[in-house]
Amino acid sequence: MKDLTDTLNQLNDSPTLAITARAKALINDGHDVVLFSSGEPDFDAPAPISEAAKERLNKGGNGYTAAAGLPELRAAVQARFESKNGLQYALEEITVTNGAKQALFNALRTLCNPGDEVIVIAPYWVSYPEMVTLCGAKARVVHAKKANYYLPEAADLEAVVSENTKAIIVNTPNNPTGVIYPEKTLRMIRDVAVRHDLYIISDEIYDTLIYEGTHHSLASFDACERTITINGMSKAYAMTGWRIGFAGGPRPVIQAMNKIQAHTTSNANTIAQHASIVGLKHCDDLVASMRDTFKAMRDLMVSKLNAIEGIHVPTPEGAFYVMVDISELLGRRYHNQSIDEAITFAKRLLEDAYVASVPGEAFGAPGTLRLSYATDDTSIIKGIKRFKTFVEALD
Ligand SMILES: Cc1ncc(COP(=O)(O)O)c(C=O)c1O
Repeated sequence: MKDLTDTLNQLNDSPTLAITARAKALINDGHDVVLFSSGEPDFDAPAPISEAAKERLNKGGNGYTAAAGLPELRAAVQARFESKNGLQYALEEITVTNGAKQALFNALRTLCNPGDEVIVIAPYWVSYPEMVTLCGAKARVVHAKKANYYLPEAADLEAVVSENTKAIIVNTPNNPTGVIYPEKTLRMIRDVAVRHDLYIISDEIYDTLIYEGTHHSLASFDACERTITINGMSKAYAMTGWRIGFAGGPRPVIQAMNKIQAHTTSNANTIAQHASIVGLKHCDDLVASMRDTFKAMRDLMVSKLNAIEGIHVPTPEGAFYVMVDISELLGRRYHNQSIDEAITFAKRLLEDAYVASVPGEAFGAPGTLRLSYATDDTSIIKGIKRFKTFVEALD
């Protein structure tokens, strides 16, 4: 048979999915595994959303929608962009996609020619570099330093800009660090983008899950004409499997994204679109109460981690992850096996202590682990206790 595409050879498997698959296999074998690896809330979508979906099923009329999504849903997204982010988009500047993931992919596919470069800031969400590769472009990774609260600096961005640079991806609140980019950093990124005429893809999927500080939308700093703002229902509304994302951006970009959508998936799931209207219009209180639950989980996980000798984690301001710097633990031995990398650390932690985490290599941040606290207090207490025993057993 002839070869598969060259692009596929450059594509890495998802490390998050791999570790979750191994954790699930252990669970199927009867082991009691604590899952700190997944990137989703462990509760269901609010009842009014599920009820709206059931009602829609009963009512019928769930054929294709416009590629850009139902006008009523786009109007609800438009109102959300305005009230929560201070962004004013016309309906034609908004599109609804199959999860934020497809919005990101369609935006990159719209912007990138083969050979173009896209700046990705590490620690990054696992799929950014892979999506850039899938679009035939090249990811230029900038490493934001822990000493700088994982915020990028202008000199680091300028150092990777070339005549081929087309766009920069920004993610605030950030997965995996939980950092919220301050206004100063966002204005600096905007200035770099203006100086080199770059597009900005601003992934703000965690913008309602903030516990301290304020979230700012990058586009709000006079950057609407070059910014595609990405968001969706998955995280804030606990709707990961419903697959509804959305984007606002310059009209030509959004129209091109609609064209891609029309020829690939047609439209996001019609029933989920109808249910999302109810979510956006009527579920603010429920979202706020989920956020309070996450905050309590965050405080519990951070305090338990910081009680372990040798572990110091800053309190993340948003999203639902804690990044643990384990660099000082590497090079030690666990039951005669050398633990030299976060990947080995995470593997042994899973196989021997039954705690699933994601090693930092997945985020371009070796020497770290990402723990998700989107779970319950019993699991956090049990999992961090096992983590502590594991750390204490290192020679
Ligand atoms: C930063 C970030 N962006 C986008 C996504 C994708 O969201 P969706 O499930 O809506 O495709 C995720 C999911 O983990 C994420 O963490």
